[in-house]
Parts: sequence; structure tokens; C-alpha cells
Amino acid sequence: MTERPEPDDPAGPVLVRTRAELVRARAALPGPVAVVMTMGALHVGHAALVDEARRRAASVLVTVFLNPLQFGEDADLSAYPRTLDADLALLGEHGVELVFAPGVDDVYPGGPPSVTVSAGPLGDVLEGAARPGHFDGVLTVVAKLVGLTRPDVLLFGRKDAQQLLLVTRMVADLDLGVEVVGVPTVRDADGLALSSRNTHLRAEDRGVATTLVTALRAGAAAATGGPGEVRAAALGVLEAQEGLSVDYLALADPATLAEVGHGATGPALLAVAARVGATRLIDNVELVLGGATGGDGTAS
Ligand code: PAJ
Repeated sequence: MTERPEPDDPAGPVLVRTRAELVRARAALPGPVAVVMTMGALHVGHAALVDEARRRAASVLVTVFLNPLQFGEDADLSAYPRTLDADLALLGEHGVELVFAPGVDDVYPGGPPSVTVSAGPLGDVLEGAARPGHFDGVLTVVAKLVGLTRPDVLLFGRKDAQQLLLVTRMVADLDLGVEVVGVPTVRDADGLALSSRNTHLRAEDRGVATTLVTALRAGAAAATGGPGEVRAAALGVLEAQEGLSVDYLALADPATLAEVGHGATGPALLAVAARVGATRLIDNVELVLGGATGGDGTAS
């Protein structure tokens, strides 16, 4: 049955839980249809994707699905915050027409799929090196959700730059026939990139966590000097901070994710992953080596 979270609120999104309900509700949506895929625990960063979706399409469909395929450790999956009621309220405020929040059995009716999407070499570096198989799981569910929701436009956050790149590549390489749009990173006033994981930060971790964006901004400010200066500036900030365990700092070609060489110029991605207490955080900025700083999404 189709549920409305707020029966008195005609602006509230329609909530569907099964694929049969989705097919019916999707068919009734005026096109073009934009889809925003999420794992729930929604915040203002997700809302920015919805707002951009609204500008680009007649209808906005949001999926809320905690995809077990992309989690390595069960502990990580079970610790993930689940806040569907609050998510629906936020999506209602942003004028979303349809929310698809299926259970695991609706998405994977026969258990884990036997045929999956391989991310290839781009999925083995940076986040993929730290989380083996993660991007295969992401791309498999994104491909399935594309099949189920049939979007004209798909929106992804630049905060997860490698995910955005891989989805863009999958859509091109497999001719999925949907436009992929990247949305700039939304940050709190102190610069910290919004993330569902921020809820795990203890009050005393917060200042340590903002070191990530401070380091990225220091790196971006040194972009005219070249790769060596960018790395040195960002590393200097990270190494000076106690209580931060850096997983990687990468200055990479935005298309191949290969580390840029000495003397390289042009667009580059400065990406960092670090642990603050038990919480693993990632962030990145786009910059232009040897030139002016690009659209780096560091505005708060
Ligand atoms: P999730 O982490 O819920 O993120 C959903 C979308 O919101 C992603 O495109 C992500 O990049 C974007 N997003 C998150 N925080 C953001 C911020 N601060 N600013 C801008 N965009 C932000 O990413 C996933 O879910 C999953 O891997 C998914 C694609 C849904 C597949 O399961």
C-alpha cells in the first residue's frame, strides 16, 4: 500500500516501499524525473541535491536505502543512523514528490545478486584501497536503482568525488542513458563537510575534524606553486594536528585518480581521508595547479 507520512500535509512526499508500488507511482510522475539516491540520515547536504534536482526536472524522486553490498564490516552497517521519519519531513520541506524506501529483500529478492558491476581500476584506489569491494557494491545498487526508478537526471555530491566519477564512468561505459550531475559539497559554518558520520563525533572531536578542510584549503591556496607546494601545505596542517590519524592525502588527476606528477598543471583533486576517534571522515577540493583555484566547493 502507498503510505503518506503526513496525511494532513498535501505537500508531503508519497512513500513507497516495494518495487510494485514504485512502478505504479513512478509511472504517474510528470517528466523529466530527477533521482537522488541516499542511504537516509539525511542532512542539508542531501537537501542541496534535492534542490538542484528540482531546478532540473518536473519531478523529484529520492531513494532511501542502506545498501549492505557496499559495507565491509557489519558493525559499520549496524551503526549507521536510521531516521526515516525525520528524512521524510526534510524531503517534504524540499518539495519531493516520491520517496522509495525499500527493504533489503525488495532490492535483492533472491539474496545478494550473482551478477554485479565491477568498478575496475578506478575503484581500487583512494577510498577503494581502504574499503575493498566498496565501489562494486555502490555501482551495483546504483545500476539497480537506475533500472527501478528510470531517471532522466541523477544527482550526486562532489563530497564523494570518487563515487561521482565512478557513477559517471559507469553511465558512459554501460550506456545507461541518464544525465549525471555533480553538486558542490555543503559545509557547516566551521567548514566541516556535512556527513551522516558527523553524528558519531564527540564534542571534543569537532575541532580536530575541521582540520581536514583547513588542510585542503591550505593546499588549494598553494595551487599556483604546483603539486609539491600543495602537498606540503596540506600535510603541514594535518601533521600539526593531534588526535587525527590520516589514511591518505592524494593530489590526483580528476579523470584517472592517478597522483599528479612533479610540474603538473591544470585541474586536480586534493582528497583526504582520516580517522578522528572511531569516525572515518573524507573530504576533497578541486583546484587548478599553476593557476587560480577552481570551483572547489569550500564555501560554507
Ligand atoms: P549517502 O552517503 O547517503 O549520500 C547520498 C548523496 O548525498 C551522495 O551523492 C553524496 O555525495 C551526497 N552528499 C552527502 N553529503 C554531502 C554534502 N555534505 N554535500 C553535498 N552532497 C553530499 O553516497 C551514498 O549515500 C551511497 O553510496 C549511494 C550513492 C546512495 C549508494 O548506496
